[in-house]
Order: sequence, then C-alpha cells, then structure tokens
Amino acid sequence: MNNLRHLISPLDLSLKEIDKILSLAATIKENPKSYSKKCEGLKLATLFYEPSTRTRLSFETAMLNLGGSIIGFSDAANSSVSKGETVSDTMRIINCFADICAIRHNKEGAALVAASKATIPVINAGDGGHQHPTQTLTDLNTIRSLKGRLSGLKIGFCGDLKFGRTVHSLIHALVRYPDNEFVLISPDELRVPAYIRDDVLIHSGVKFTEVQRLEDSLSDLDILYMTRVQKERFFNEEEYIRLKDRYILDKEKMKLAGPEMLILHPLPRVNEIATEVDDDPRAVYFKQVEYGVYARMALILFLLGKEDTSC
Ligand code: CP
Repeated sequence: MNNLRHLISPLDLSLKEIDKILSLAATIKENPKSYSKKCEGLKLATLFYEPSTRTRLSFETAMLNLGGSIIGFSDAANSSVSKGETVSDTMRIINCFADICAIRHNKEGAALVAASKATIPVINAGDGGHQHPTQTLTDLNTIRSLKGRLSGLKIGFCGDLKFGRTVHSLIHALVRYPDNEFVLISPDELRVPAYIRDDVLIHSGVKFTEVQRLEDSLSDLDILYMTRVQKERFFNEEEYIRLKDRYILDKEKMKLAGPEMLILHPLPRVNEIATEVDDDPRAVYFKQVEYGVYARMALILFLLGKEDTSC
C-alpha cells in the first residue's frame, strides 16, 4: 500500500488530520447509510491480547457499518501466541489476511513493534499503561460534538493518572489546542508519569495544577474526565485496595459542579461514579461510546485512504 499510515500515538496525526477525521465522523453520524458500502471486500483484523468490551466491539461495529468484514482473536490464549509466537511474526501473518489491523497488548510498545512489520495500517487499541489513541479520538469527538470546541477548556482528570493510558493520550492531544487548562486530581501514588508531566505538560507551557481533592476542583471545570484505578497494572494488591475507592463521584458532589460541566469516562466504570449520577444530563459517558464508533469509522476510512472517495 502506498502512503502506509499507522496510528500508534495521537501525535501520529496532525491537528489538521484530527480535524478532518472528526469532521468525517460527524458527517457519518448524520448520514451513516451513505457509508455502508465504503469498505466492501475489505477486512479488519482485531488482535486483542488483553480484555476489552468497548474498543474491540466498537472497531468491529465500525468495520461492519462500513460494509467490511472482521477477523481476529479476543483472547491470546486461543491463538498461537500461547505456543510462543511473537507479535512480529503474528503481524507478518495478518498482513496476508487483512487490509487493516487493530491491536491491544499489555506491553507498552507492542503496537509499534507490530507496525514495524506491517504492510497494512496498524492501529494501537491500547498498549499497557502507555497510549490509547482511538479512545482519544472518541473523547475528542464527544467533546467537540457536545461542547462545540476543543480549545479554551478547563479539563479535570481524576483517578489513576499514572496507569490510565486514556489520560496520557488525551493530554497529548489536548495540549495541542490553544488555551486549554488542566487540573490533575489523583493521590500522590497515582500522579501522571514524569514523561507526561515534564515532556508534555511542562514542555508545551500549558497551565496545569496537581491536586488531591476532587471537591475543590469541580466548580469551574468544563470537562471532568473520571478514570478507574487500573487494577491490572498494580504489582501489589494491598496498594490497589487502599487506593481503589479514593474518588467516588456521587449526586452530592455533582451539586458542586457547574450546569454545563460534562462528565466523561473511558469505561469500564468500577466504583468511581455512583450509578445515581447516570441520569444527570451532564453524564455523557454512555453517549461517548456511540461517538467512538463514528470516530473509528472515520479513522478506518482515513487510514485506508477512502475518506475522500464519493459514496
Ligand atoms: N475504553 C476502553 O478501552 O474500554 P475497553 O477496555 O472495554 O475496550
């Protein structure tokens, strides 16, 4: 394929390209039927070495909505990985079967390794505690659609900012838009890693603060991005148990937030948002999932070079 492109990190896309993908996602949402044959005859492979509900099914729904087909595995134990096959060798095989591939792996950098052996576009569907760029497109699509802009926003990130790869990717993306401000709300043990704090936030010169109390930050946020504590990344279960219920957003705390503040969450939720909040019109974390399908449809078309072709 000419002009082979991958999406491993949000930085693989220019702002102009992100804008193009989000505009396409909005157009698809308005008229999904006109896109229902765009990928006829093409296959998406989903290689999921780690559990997933949303990302894998969202990718598969996106490809099916575009008229394409899907192959793949949702459990590495049922693939030849269990016999010791490497990501590089698996990718060489998938090159022969599919036209585009989404990979999730527990090791940081696995998607990059796959891309180095790929002759088809590779999409990072989450690599360990590192990056999750299509969740970022989902989040950007949700914010842009519901707030009408991606700049001039005050965004609070709350919870596990150390292991939460969706947080890392979304910060990477949002610092590139003007006049955004960040409030990083976490216990000391779960602060954003140095490579995000120093190399992304400080390096870009954006305004940000690190705090521990959620209640103190709610009144002037435009977006509250809640996250679960990532149990699977902890080496010490006692530490996880000590930290897991540190933040619980409930109706009482929502009284402190402004009427326009949106609550996003990449999901799955554990305890960090009480179910009583779900009916609050500011809670958009289930709508967010729908925006993710349109974002992934647009991304697939973009990476396959089909975003400009007529219906
Ligand atoms: N947001 C997200 O990555 O969810 P899954 O782990 O269910 O794919």
